[in-house]
Amino acid sequence: EVWNPSGKHRVVSTKSMPGTRWIRLLTDNDCRLEICTEPKTILSVDDILALIGDRCDGVIGQLTEDWGEVLFSALKRAGGTAFSNMAVGYNNVDVEAANRNGIAVGNTPGVLTETTAELAASLTLAAARRIVEADKFMRAGLYDGWLPHLFVGNLLKGQTVGVIGAGRIGSAYARMMIEGFKMNLIYYDLYQATRLEKFVTAYGQFLKANGEQPVTWKRAATMEDVLREADVISLHPVLDKTTYHLINPERLAIMKKEAILVNASRGPVIDEVALVEHLKANPMFRVGLDVFEDEPYMKPGLADMKNAVVVPHIASASKWTREGMATLTALNVLGKIKGYPVWGNPNQ
Ligand code: DGY
Repeated sequence: EVWNPSGKHRVVSTKSMPGTRWIRLLTDNDCRLEICTEPKTILSVDDILALIGDRCDGVIGQLTEDWGEVLFSALKRAGGTAFSNMAVGYNNVDVEAANRNGIAVGNTPGVLTETTAELAASLTLAAARRIVEADKFMRAGLYDGWLPHLFVGNLLKGQTVGVIGAGRIGSAYARMMIEGFKMNLIYYDLYQATRLEKFVTAYGQFLKANGEQPVTWKRAATMEDVLREADVISLHPVLDKTTYHLINPERLAIMKKEAILVNASRGPVIDEVALVEHLKANPMFRVGLDVFEDEPYMKPGLADMKNAVVVPHIASASKWTREGMATLTALNVLGKIKGYPVWGNPNQ
C-alpha cells in the first residue's frame, strides 16, 4: 500500500498500524510511505531486505523482526538513516549494529506504560480469582449451584506484591496493586524507585489517618528476598543477557507454594520448561503470562495447565496506546530524516 507516491523520502512500514495520525505525519512531511501488506504475521530477514530495496530513508519495524547487521547494513546501502521499533522493548534490535551503520534507532516508551501495567494487573486478578477456569466451567454447562468451595482463590488485600524491575511499567503496576487492592510492596531494582516509595509512604499515611491498616514498602537487597516474601510477583525487567532465565528452577523453588507469578515483559525472562514442571508439581501456584519463550509457541504442557492464564502478547493493546505507539514510530523516523531529535532513542 503506497501513500503520497511523489514524496521525497521513502519510508517503509513492515506492518499496517492502528490509527491514521502516523500516516498523516509522514505524508504531510514529504514522505512516500509504503506499508507492507504481506499477510504472514512474522516477516523474515529476506522479506524485509526486499522491502528495503535499493533506496529507503527509514523503516518502521516490529518486535517480531530480527534487526541486526544484515538489515542495518542493507538500510545503510539504500541511503537510510532511521529505524523505529514499534515497542518499548528492543531486544530484537542489535543497537551496536545500527550504530556501526549510522542508523538511528527509536522505540516507543511512555505511551504504553499504563496500558501494559493494566494488563499485568488483569492477569494478576484473573490468576488470583481463577477467572479463566471459572469462565470455561460456566460455558461447559457445569455450574449446577453455589458451593462453599467452588473456585476459591486468593484475596489480594493485605498481601505483598513483589515487583522485579521497578521502572516505568513496574512502578505503574505497583501503584495499581497498592492503591486498588491495599497490598504491601516489596521490590527489587538496581535503582531506587524513589517516587514509588514516596507514593506508598503517603498512601500508607492516608490509610492510617482514616483508621485503616497502612500499606508498607521495602526495597529488597536481593531478588531472592522478593521471591521468598511476595504473594504476587510481577516481572518487569528488560530482556538482556543478565535477565535471560531470571526465573529458573532454583528461584521457582523458593517462591511460596500459593504464589502468583505474572510476566508481561519478555518470555525468555522465565525458563518456561521449568515453569511447566513447577505448575504441575504445585497446583496452587498460579501464573499469568502475556509473553512466551518462543513466541508464538508455548512450551509443551503449558496449554493444559489450569493454573496458568495465557494471553497472546497483548499488554500494550489498547486503542489509545497502539495509536500512540504508531505515532511515535513516525515521529522517530521523521525526526531523524528531518534532523530533529529521535524520541525514544536507545542509541543516541
Ligand atoms: C513492547 O512495547 O515492548 C511490548 O512488548 C509490545 O507493546
